[in-house]
Amino acid sequence: MSVEDYRKIAREKMKGHCGVYKHCDGADIRICQRNAYGKGIGFGGVGSGQSFKNNFEAVNAIKLKMRVVGDHYNPNTEYDFFGNKLTMPIMGASVTGVNSFGGDEVITESEFCKATVLGAKYAGTIGWRGDTYTYDWDFMPCYDAICNVAEGWGVKISKPRDQEVLKKVFKKYEEGGAIAVGTDVDGCGSTIMAAHQKPVFKKSPEDIKELVNSTKLPVIIKGIMTQEDAIAASEAGAAAIVVSNHGGRVLDYTPGTAEVLPSIVDAIKGRTRILVDGGIRNGYDVLKMLAVGAEAVLIGRDIVRAAVGGGAEGVKTHFIHLQKTLEKAMRMTNVASLSDITREVIYG
Ligand SMILES: Cc1cc2nc3c(=O)[nH]c(=O)nc-3n(C[C@H](O)[C@H](O)[C@H](O)COP(=O)(O)O)c2cc1C
Repeated sequence: MSVEDYRKIAREKMKGHCGVYKHCDGADIRICQRNAYGKGIGFGGVGSGQSFKNNFEAVNAIKLKMRVVGDHYNPNTEYDFFGNKLTMPIMGASVTGVNSFGGDEVITESEFCKATVLGAKYAGTIGWRGDTYTYDWDFMPCYDAICNVAEGWGVKISKPRDQEVLKKVFKKYEEGGAIAVGTDVDGCGSTIMAAHQKPVFKKSPEDIKELVNSTKLPVIIKGIMTQEDAIAASEAGAAAIVVSNHGGRVLDYTPGTAEVLPSIVDAIKGRTRILVDGGIRNGYDVLKMLAVGAEAVLIGRDIVRAAVGGGAEGVKTHFIHLQKTLEKAMRMTNVASLSDITREVIYG
C-alpha cells in the first residue's frame, strides 16, 4: 500500500476532523479551521489559526537551488541522534489525544502510541510521544509503547507539569531504557490540564537545570521560538531544543518556525542540538529546514494521518516516503550527506 492509499483510508476515518488535504496549511476553508473560533481546538490551530498558517507559509517561502550538472551519486541521509544511528534526520513528533482525531472508534490512544513508535522503528527512525490530560500514573500508553513494546526505542516529552512529577516520569523512562526525555515548555498555557487536576507551569532556567540534573538521559526542551529562550535552555543544560510552536496550537499570531529558526541557529548552533517542527510535509521541506541550520525535524499531523490510515505499517510507509524525497532533494541540490547541507542549498 502507498502513502496515498493510507491517506485515503484516513480521509474516511477522520471525517469532520481532518480532510487529509493535499495542502495541510491551516487555511480557513479547511475542516479543522472552519467555524473553529472559540471551539475546542480539534486537529487545527489555536484561535484564528494564524500560527498554523504561518508555519506552512514560512516553509513554503524557502526556495531550493537546483544543481544537477555533476557526477551522479546516492545521497546518504543517515543521522546520529544521541549515539543512535537513524536512517534519516526525521522523527515522529510528540502528539497525543486521539479525541482530536475522531475518538476511540478511529484509533485508541494505546493503538496510536504503538503505531507511531513501532512504525518509526521499522523505518529506522524514532517516534516521540507526548503527554495529555488523560495520562496519569495509572494510564501510560506512551510508556507501554516506548519501554515495553519498542524496548526503549522512543523519546518521551511530558507536559511542563510540577517538577516532582516530571522528575518521577523522567526516572521511570530512564529505567525503562528510553533514548531521551523532555518537556514541551510551550504547553504551559494549557487550561485543560489544570481542569483535570494536572496543572502545568512555566519553567525557569533553574527548573530546567534541576530536570537536567535529575536524569542520566538527554533532556530536550520543546517549544522554543526566540533567541532568548534558546540561549536560556542551552545554558541550563538542555541536550537539544525543538524550535516549535506546537503546530500552531498554543499561542495565536506566532511566526512560522522557519522564520525564527535562523536567529536561533545563529545563537546556539554547535552548543545544543537544534531540531524543528511545524508545516514540514515532505523531504524537500526537510532539506529546507536543514539548510537553515536545524540538524533534524519532527513530523506531527502527517504521522497521525499515517497511523490512522494504516497503523504501524502506515507510519513506516510514510517515513520511508519522507526519506526518499529527502534523498531526491539532496541529489538535485548537489549535497551528498547531511554534513554537506548549508544555506548554499537555498536562495536568500
Ligand atoms: C492533535 C495534536 C496533538 C498534539 N499533542 C502534543 C503533545 O501532547 N505534546 C507535544 O509536545 N506536542 C504536541 N503536539 C505538537 C506536535 O508535537 C508538533 O509540534 C506539531 O504537530 C508539528 O507541526 P505539524 O503538525 O505541522 O507537523 C500536538 C499536535 C497535534 C496536531
